[in-house]
Amino acid sequence: MQVLEPRGAGAERIADLWWFTVVVGGAVYLLVLAILALGVRHALRRRRHDREAPDPDTRRWVGVGGIVLPVVVLSILLVLTLRVMRDHTLMAEEAAAGLTIEVTGVQWWWDVRYRPGDGSASIATANELYIPTGRPVRVVLRSRDVVHSFWVPQLQGKLDLVPGHETVTWLHADSAGEFRGRCAEFCGAQHGHMAFLVVALPPDEFDDWLGHQRRPAPEPADSVAQRGLEVVESTACAMCHTVRGTAARASVGPDLTHLASRRTLAAGTLPNTPGHLAGWIGDPQGIKPGSHMPRVPLSGSDLQALLAYLGTLR
Ligand code: CUA
Repeated sequence: MQVLEPRGAGAERIADLWWFTVVVGGAVYLLVLAILALGVRHALRRRRHDREAPDPDTRRWVGVGGIVLPVVVLSILLVLTLRVMRDHTLMAEEAAAGLTIEVTGVQWWWDVRYRPGDGSASIATANELYIPTGRPVRVVLRSRDVVHSFWVPQLQGKLDLVPGHETVTWLHADSAGEFRGRCAEFCGAQHGHMAFLVVALPPDEFDDWLGHQRRPAPEPADSVAQRGLEVVESTACAMCHTVRGTAARASVGPDLTHLASRRTLAAGTLPNTPGHLAGWIGDPQGIKPGSHMPRVPLSGSDLQALLAYLGTLR
């Protein structure tokens, strides 16, 4: 269970609280069973022979077991929960001073944007969040259609993405690694195919990644890739997608500027390989029924050119 293998400050606090609750809850459960067993034994003894056996002091049992014990246990849990919530808020304040990532939930993928503070163009990617390790990163959540829920079990608790309303959370990773995230609120037919990946990198590697993503798409290096670019610009591709530096500038679907650098296709549905990409372009409705990606009829040579071009978008 990933929630019990936390790798960041947020999930660690939640897991600690969970373990404490389980241990205390387990102890109370065993105590109740023991008292029940004593009560049954007492009743049996009285019925069989010993009608003179004294009645237990009911008032004391109710007073201690029914009032004092729950008040003490629940008060401790309340205090610990408030402490976790306070730590969450403190980290959120720390995160607010640094990097912000904007995540928009869309049926059924994640639009991810970085806005550099220096006024340069924002960077868009999809279904992957890169974060630097060792410090909390602010994540602003929005939805373009229905309610989704952003959840990275090893890093942070869930938070809903609500249409027309902004919610804010933060992610913190202790060390470098890849953490699977997913939509945790039923949001339609392909809710189950709405995964994402958080990639935590040491700060200098993260800066390299950000610098690379800032670049526009490379110019096609040969005639096949050139034809692929023409396919992107002249077919339905350009009506939904952006490839920065080209005529494709729509934002209905994921930004494809650095598509080839991503791990998966269609929000974690397929590994990002040329074969799967060809399958996805050829029959999106067969792979993810109901998704908003239409099938674009292409000749065999155009499809090959398109795949060659998309393969250069590293
Ligand atoms: Cu988005 Cu479930």
